[in-house]
Amino acid sequence: MCGIFCLLSLSSAQSEQHKFTADLLKRRGPTCCQEITANGRNVPYTCLFSAHVLHMRGPLTPQPVVDGDGNILLWNGEVFGGLPVVPEQNDCAVVSEHLSSCSEPSQVLAVLSAVRGPWAFVYYQKAADYLWFGRDFFGRRSLLWTFDAEVKALSLTSVATRSSGSECHNWQEVPASGVYRIDLKTVRECRPVSFEIYPWANDAFHPSETVGEACVPSGCSAQMNLSGLSLPSPVCPLNTSTPTPLDEEDVLTLSLDELLVNKHKLEMVNGLLDVLSEAVRVRVQSLPLLNQSNPSLTENQAAVAILFSGGIDSMILAALADHHIPAHQPIDLLNVAFKLQEPKKLSETSKKVKKPKDRATDPQRVCADPFNVPDRITGRNGVKELQGLAPGRRWNFVEINITQEELQKMRQERVCHLVHPLDTVLDDSIGCAVWFASRGVGCITEDHNQTPFISSAKVILTGIGADEQLAGYSRHRVRFQASGHQGLIQELSMELSRISSRNMGRDDRVIADHGKEARFPYLDEEVVNYLNSLPVWEKADLTQPRGVGEKLLLRLAARKLGLGQSALLPKRAMQFGSRIAKMENHHEKASDKCTRLLTG
Ligand SMILES: *[C@@H]1O[C@H](CO)[C@@H](O)[C@H](O)[C@H]1NC(C)=O
Ligand SMILES: *[C@@H]1O[C@H](CO)[C@@H](O)[C@H](O)[C@H]1NC(C)=O
Ligand SMILES: *[C@@H]1O[C@H](CO)[C@@H](O)[C@H](O)[C@H]1NC(C)=O
Ligand SMILES: *[C@@H]1O[C@H](CO)[C@@H](O)[C@H](O)[C@H]1NC(C)=O
Repeated sequence: MCGIFCLLSLSSAQSEQHKFTADLLKRRGPTCCQEITANGRNVPYTCLFSAHVLHMRGPLTPQPVVDGDGNILLWNGEVFGGLPVVPEQNDCAVVSEHLSSCSEPSQVLAVLSAVRGPWAFVYYQKAADYLWFGRDFFGRRSLLWTFDAEVKALSLTSVATRSSGSECHNWQEVPASGVYRIDLKTVRECRPVSFEIYPWANDAFHPSETVGEACVPSGCSAQMNLSGLSLPSPVCPLNTSTPTPLDEEDVLTLSLDELLVNKHKLEMVNGLLDVLSEAVRVRVQSLPLLNQSNPSLTENQAAVAILFSGGIDSMILAALADHHIPAHQPIDLLNVAFKLQEPKKLSETSKKVKKPKDRATDPQRVCADPFNVPDRITGRNGVKELQGLAPGRRWNFVEINITQEELQKMRQERVCHLVHPLDTVLDDSIGCAVWFASRGVGCITEDHNQTPFISSAKVILTGIGADEQLAGYSRHRVRFQASGHQGLIQELSMELSRISSRNMGRDDRVIADHGKEARFPYLDEEVVNYLNSLPVWEKADLTQPRGVGEKLLLRLAARKLGLGQSALLPKRAMQFGSRIAKMENHHEKASDKCTRLLTG
């Protein structure tokens, strides 16, 4: 994980854009930083490349990486497959090596589309004067852009400060709909900067409106490459078949364990566990901190942490991580809770909210402990299950308790800049919850003793992508009831296609702010490919009750892994489970613009 920045200036005027990024970039890449400038030979442009590196694997490789021909690479990514990277190698160096041998655009595209793993990059091809940049298929790494018309400068950056008033720079996320190229031989101060777009070749996935003119910064223009060059998509299209009555028959009244007796079902469950387990393996191994002889890692320091609610998505990640991390190393389970309001205020609404199974809203428990939010309770139960499954492992259940004052302070100081340019109430809730959770500062309770704890893990696994692919949200049920399998398929397809713009850039910016790296096993290319190939009714059965029907295939996988009660928990979105949404008692919708994110 790194913070990367590139400034293309077409006039001699000084741009100030770097000023809005430098501090934030440094937090993403605390290990080392460096800058390089490239100048056009016959064309008056200046290109500044700046990188802050977080060292994760292989030998420390400062960036920008400059090859023997003067090509310059900024790489904020991880190669988990596609290009061979041995443990002694650094993946950025490997990518640079592959790109060095490319002269034709088709070769550059071939290298990028071969990579399995998240990335955002900027690449300067010196001989031909080209500037390339873009994000991976799912947008798992952030990249923002803006064009400053006054000084004729285009900026690309992993993250940028939200500024207000006259300093407003209009940062936007670079759409993850393809890879972009600027022909620097043709740029002139008096003309708009023109990008050529090489789209991912899965049209259904990235709707055309996100590829075209509409979303480039003002002062720039874009055109599709007319020769039709594109990047082969890393995943197959979503299976759109709908069931015949026969397909559904056996599912109706059986329990998870009974379903697992079915050979066909079992095959599918095993198929999912195979790809998911491998996705977790590559994400928890080949870390510098996992090097056995590394003396900096003391006994109770974990290299890997999981954003942990005790729900099925995070339980499965924990169970699989246990298979691949040496048994003597701890695993941190990060569980965030926001302080419940005073019982007095709560009792007004508690009649409406209270459900028999939702113990956390019981006013008496609230009195006793304002941090006993739903995710805390399921989290505690989850750790017990994991301890049962893997009793030899040290599971650090990190209770992260956040008060309203601390939330307000850190939102103003940090999170509002990281969420930016996204700006809704939901972005605020999730952004803050994920920021506090991934910071990993809390306490651990053992034998009734509480000790303060700070997670040392540099890798953070998150469960994002499971609900979008396996129909975990209640809106999936609504859609299914209204328009059947057809409607559900359309909904799932739409959600996966917009995950890059709705979630991924934001979550990357928020987690990386702690000098840690977010990794997303459910969005591993092989996992998505496998799930896409299955017909929808095998992944979810929304005729079944909540807690069973959604993510049915994942629940079966959880049973197969030996998990118990957690396999049957209904979905609870993080903003509700952590109770952050309760803190702000405004009558606002998740999609409203969030005024709390505006800075002074
Ligand atoms: C498309 O890419 C090809 C190969 O790089 C290039 O020759 C051609 O000029 C490009 N087309 C446009 C419209 O930019
Ligand atoms: C592991 O750490 C030791 C000591 O720091 C070092 O000599 C060795 O090269 C490292 N091995 C790998 C694979 O990074
Ligand atoms: C955090 O919240 C838990 C309840 O989930 C509570 O038991 C614990 O005492 C709290 N810790 C601190 C340091 O406030
Ligand atoms: C979609 O699922 C159906 C039913 O299992 C299967 O017959 C078909 O081959 C699948 N289609 C694709 C493209 O994988």
